[in-house]
Amino acid sequence: MKTETIKWVKGSIRIIDQTLLPHKLKYIYCKDVPTLWKAIRVLSVRGAPALGVAAGFGILLAVKDYPATDTRQLIKKIYDTANYLATSRPTAVNLFNVLDRMKRVAMANCRVSPSRLKRIIKEEALHVYEEDRTVCRLMGKSGGKLIKKGDNVLTVCNAGALATVDYGTALGVLYNAHEKGKRFKAYACETRPLLQGARLTAWELIRAGIDTTLICDNMAAALMKQGKVDIIFAGADRIAANGDTANKIGTYSLAVLARYHRIPLYVVAPYSTFDLAIPNGNTIPIEQRDKQEVLGFAGQRTAPGNVKVFNPAFDVTDAKLITGIITELGIIQPVNRSNIKKLFKHKT
Ligand code: MRU
Repeated sequence: MKTETIKWVKGSIRIIDQTLLPHKLKYIYCKDVPTLWKAIRVLSVRGAPALGVAAGFGILLAVKDYPATDTRQLIKKIYDTANYLATSRPTAVNLFNVLDRMKRVAMANCRVSPSRLKRIIKEEALHVYEEDRTVCRLMGKSGGKLIKKGDNVLTVCNAGALATVDYGTALGVLYNAHEKGKRFKAYACETRPLLQGARLTAWELIRAGIDTTLICDNMAAALMKQGKVDIIFAGADRIAANGDTANKIGTYSLAVLARYHRIPLYVVAPYSTFDLAIPNGNTIPIEQRDKQEVLGFAGQRTAPGNVKVFNPAFDVTDAKLITGIITELGIIQPVNRSNIKKLFKHKT
């Protein structure tokens, strides 16, 4: 069953409202940039690659009817919109990479007419969208080979169709193996506090016909000890030049547990999730979210309102705990600065 997470539809950005899943499959049509900004902030649209696509479409939304009389004005609008969208969420670098890409395209075309520049911006935003569809399938193909018949596969958060245009990074690997006819078991960590694993990953995997079991995050160690995890796949929000990887909170603890239990853990992420300007994970900006997300569960208050709360949305897994990074250009293994540089040499 096709999942179209984000799409440009008749002059607006159509997104699945992920805050309503799995109970309702409903779309939001963003017709202006503040609506998109809010959809990103409240996680109606989420997941690093999907945020990159949203950034491209956001710039397109800003310029499409903008009454610019000269191109300089239009470029200013692009820069202002990029600065605004950059304040929505801080960790997923795909958002910033695409905003920079749109600004670069605008600057490279500063001598064309405003209407021509609008067309160029549209082409670029649609390229970003198409690239996501292509790279997810390439990563799925190379990662899918790592899953063997009968394996138990663990994943965290949602790095699936709902985190990309329509296929997924980590879950793309599972989809590829499933499409090849391999039968395996998937385990989804529920991913407190916002339950992307329970609400989104479980929904997606079951829809795809994959044998799926949901666990609370604190059950992963017991599952590993019982020999019920053979391999782990996770997505990424930002990967530093040395391979340190920011992903959903809880990924680091899985990586530590995996090392103790000698289970391979792979990160699945495209080039657009790398931040080669950051030497290591220490300086990756980590989003801190509202304490209400931790104080309650499914809309019900579970803790006293006056307790202090620690609520980082992401953590950083050290490169040395990651078995390999599956990218559209191949697998980086072992994960270190020189192997990353080698794989992306023509891009840097
Ligand atoms: O807070 P979220 O739901 O946007 O966090 C998403 C994740 O951590 C994903 O694992 C990551 O963005 C990779 S998605 C392909």
